[in-house]
Amino acid sequence: MMGRWSSGLLKVVSWLCLVGFVSGIGANWGTQASHPLPPNTVVQMLRDNGFQKVKLFDPEDSAMSALSKSQIQVMVGIPNEMLAGLASSMKVAENWVSKNISSYIKDGVDIRYVAVGNEPFLETYNGSFLQTTFPALQNIQSALIKAGVSSQVKVTVPLNADVYESSSGKPSDGDFRANIHDLMVAIVKFLSDNGAPFTVNIYPFISLYNDPNFPVDYAFLYGPTASPVGDGSITYTNVFDANHDTLVWALQKSGFGNLSIIVGEIGWPTDGDMSANIQYAQRFNQGFMQRVSSGQGTPLRPGAIDAYLFSLIDEDQKSIQPGNFERHWGVFYYDGQPKYQLNISTSKTGTLVGAKNVKYLDKKWCVFTPSVSLDDSRVASAASYACAKADCTSLGYKTSCSDLDARGNISYAFNSYYQINDQDGRACDFQGTATTTDRDPSTSTCRFEIMIEAGSATSWRLAAVGGQGVGLVFYAFLPLLLTLL
Ligand SMILES: *[C@@H]1O[C@H](CO)[C@@H](O)[C@H](O)[C@H]1NC(C)=O
Ligand SMILES: *[C@@H]1O[C@H](CO)[C@@H](O)[C@H](O)[C@H]1NC(C)=O
Ligand SMILES: *[C@@H]1O[C@H](CO)[C@@H](O)[C@H](O)[C@H]1NC(C)=O
Ligand SMILES: *[C@@H]1O[C@H](CO)[C@@H](O)[C@H](O)[C@H]1NC(C)=O
Ligand SMILES: *[C@@H]1O[C@H](CO)[C@@H](O)[C@H](O)[C@H]1NC(C)=O
Repeated sequence: MMGRWSSGLLKVVSWLCLVGFVSGIGANWGTQASHPLPPNTVVQMLRDNGFQKVKLFDPEDSAMSALSKSQIQVMVGIPNEMLAGLASSMKVAENWVSKNISSYIKDGVDIRYVAVGNEPFLETYNGSFLQTTFPALQNIQSALIKAGVSSQVKVTVPLNADVYESSSGKPSDGDFRANIHDLMVAIVKFLSDNGAPFTVNIYPFISLYNDPNFPVDYAFLYGPTASPVGDGSITYTNVFDANHDTLVWALQKSGFGNLSIIVGEIGWPTDGDMSANIQYAQRFNQGFMQRVSSGQGTPLRPGAIDAYLFSLIDEDQKSIQPGNFERHWGVFYYDGQPKYQLNISTSKTGTLVGAKNVKYLDKKWCVFTPSVSLDDSRVASAASYACAKADCTSLGYKTSCSDLDARGNISYAFNSYYQINDQDGRACDFQGTATTTDRDPSTSTCRFEIMIEAGSATSWRLAAVGGQGVGLVFYAFLPLLLTLL
């Protein structure tokens, strides 16, 4: 049973108050959630917390409308799936800019950047977007010029830090990855010619996650500094600085050492892995905020850091292919409540402020029926079904719910499924092995969530046509559920 269970589970800111100019910290606002907060609530959160910039992965209409006249600067993303179309036709690019940029600018959305694709050159994409990213970037830039908005709206491509590398680990040996070197130089030249920035996502957490021998303290900007890396006259005490400056070297070697850099994503997850926890996330993000507010920059780029935290809110529908931590990057939980104290220095209070007027479902949970035996033949498949359809990423070694026993595990899975299905009674049955309760099964570290009333979803809403919510999805899977049981 344990085996089946496991296999089921497997399956900004700154204080850059240079007179009259405040750069500020940004946040990534992703919406791959079963129950996203209403966009107006999120925009209010951004304002209450002193975020001055936001990055979206898609110009979703409800989010864009909520940002109108909000005084928040916006970077709008174009999903990778759209790059081929945009690359092949100028007309497609013009329509995209007209609908997704110009019309929102008219409505009072302060759009500053278009992010063409999202980490399109990640090695895991097997080169799928190598041919289309640059032509799409060029077509979008031409369309921005034609629409008369190119002085306000700049293009960029958010790239994963694996587009550059250093054979020795020293920043000064940095250069663009050999198999995309010439393409990168062409893109960098194009960005420079058009007064546009380079955007890079830097993840010290992933360094630690991928390499068990990675020195933990080197992941953080402040604190004890074991294992510094010397590079000429510079001593690097943390991987953020070293990684960032590897990019500066790569740009310099391409002849564009002055190209401005935006850190498109930076942050630390709080659950789903032994290195993903509240303590590390707080230490990392507070250290990063401190660096931003100091105006100190990195050794090779002293001065302001333009960055967007990843991310604002947890997203329970994200793919866990990169790891179970993927649904826990938020500085806020799914319901917009802060996970820990963080001083965004442009905030009025010096600490995070939660979302207001959040509407929760009833105080009810779904649990494994006490009288049913763990060995019951229905149980294992029911639990793995629930995990596959809902979210069990808080279960596992050294996660927030690792203190649960086997029965607790099953209850956690059942409850997650029940809540994602809006507490529909039919989602707490599992062939008679599940029961609802009004006693909160949470432990001191493990939260058995109560879902919120859904705002507007993206992918999920598309799946659940007709505004019937997740119930429809549940029924769609009912035959499968019966087979499994
Ligand atoms: C605007 O963006 C949305 C979201 O990415 C996309 O579905 C739509 O096709 C775009 N509109 C045009 C005219 O390209
Ligand atoms: C990339 O290739 C690997 C191995 O061939 C395959 O498993 C994976 O699905 C591919 N990924 C994409 C995004 O095409
Ligand atoms: C880069 O910027 C520095 C400082 O502003 C300046 O002295 C230098 O000439 C610039 N180099 C290039 C290649 O533009
Ligand atoms: C938050 O950070 C700012 C800038 O670093 C600092 O001036 C302020 O005192 C801090 N507030 C708190 C409550 O720590
Ligand atoms: C609970 O589930 C997790 C994740 O599958 C597993 O690692 C853990 O061993 C389980 N605990 C018990 C007591 O079965």
